[in-house]
Amino acid sequence: MIYFDNAATTYPKPEVVYQAVNKCMREYCANPGRSGHKLSMEAGRVVLEARELLAELFGTKRSDNIIFGLNATDALNTAIKGLSNKGDHIITTSMEHNSVLRPLKQLESQEIETTIVRCSETGELNLAELEANIKSNTKMIITTHASNVTGTLMPIKEIGEIARRRKLLYIIDTAQTAGTYKLNVSDINVDVLTFTGHKGLMGPQGVGGFYIREGVALRQMREGGTGSSSDSLIQPEILPDKFESGTPNTPGIAGLAAGLKFIKEIGIEQIRKHEEEITSYFLKQLSEIDDIMVYGPQNMLKQAPVVALNIKTKTSAEVSFILDNQFDIATRPGLHCAPLAHQTIGTKGQGAVRFSFGYFNTVDEIDEAIRALKAIAKEECF
Ligand SMILES: Cc1ncc(COP(=O)(O)O)c(C=O)c1O
Repeated sequence: MIYFDNAATTYPKPEVVYQAVNKCMREYCANPGRSGHKLSMEAGRVVLEARELLAELFGTKRSDNIIFGLNATDALNTAIKGLSNKGDHIITTSMEHNSVLRPLKQLESQEIETTIVRCSETGELNLAELEANIKSNTKMIITTHASNVTGTLMPIKEIGEIARRRKLLYIIDTAQTAGTYKLNVSDINVDVLTFTGHKGLMGPQGVGGFYIREGVALRQMREGGTGSSSDSLIQPEILPDKFESGTPNTPGIAGLAAGLKFIKEIGIEQIRKHEEEITSYFLKQLSEIDDIMVYGPQNMLKQAPVVALNIKTKTSAEVSFILDNQFDIATRPGLHCAPLAHQTIGTKGQGAVRFSFGYFNTVDEIDEAIRALKAIAKEECF
């Protein structure tokens, strides 16, 4: 099987990730931060290690400001809903995932206004248009760092500058870039940066979270046991406890810590270089095949390792099915939980076949995919 669905979840994981999850489950999977016995202390140590690795990855010394949750969706819901109040206006883009668009839609019923700035056909954002939509009641801007449909990168540094100048909050969704792109919160003006553990961070599913800038007044989504201030019925205000009620996914966090150590060892630049090389090789080969329509910038300076395409008028579901069934190549068809992105690039009806690359993909695998796509385009498969 050739796996090109890394934008959904990276697979395979580094061997050390499997080992770390197994070791946690077998040797110390007690409740972290609750009891004082050795196993609980070891579980707590590993959770702290993962928090510190994430703080280092995101360029902050404040590991307490790294909050663990379920995934990016959970983190985005907390950030979006916990920062908005009746009468606020929020700006986002047409390239967002439903984990941004659906919470915003839901907030409209609570008299919170939203503006979705339409991006170009390649998914690129016009900064002047973004700024022109700021109003007196605008509270925040939310953007992805890279589209999960076309890979198009958003100019997060420039958006952060606009937010700083106009005194707005800025939330960045790094689901498609954390672990592959350098994200330094002291260089980017960001208030909440959300991440998910199972994509570029190479961890297991079921763990994600966010970085929150010190002093940002974010409401928690739930209250409960934190292992701290247990004499009080009031949710503690200290971080990360304020947002981390209930027993965490310790095996998931242990796997994530191993993924983060792997990334540190290989080097984020090296990982990106490899993914960029195979993506540009794929794009170059595609440009030589008639009848294939490729979406997005088709330029590695402007996109993450994600390529969306269609073959003639075939539905994306049909092409993806043939790739899986006849060539053992895993891709994702359809709308990728980002309907407005498809409206933006003109594929709302057909969807698109998404190839998304990871650190373990090779040039030989790309060659196989190109052979398969040529055969499908020439109707040699059915
Ligand atoms: C850009 C983007 N944001 C958010 C998410 C949601 O991530 P998760 O499913 O881990 O919550 C995804 C998942 O594909 C994504 O691609």
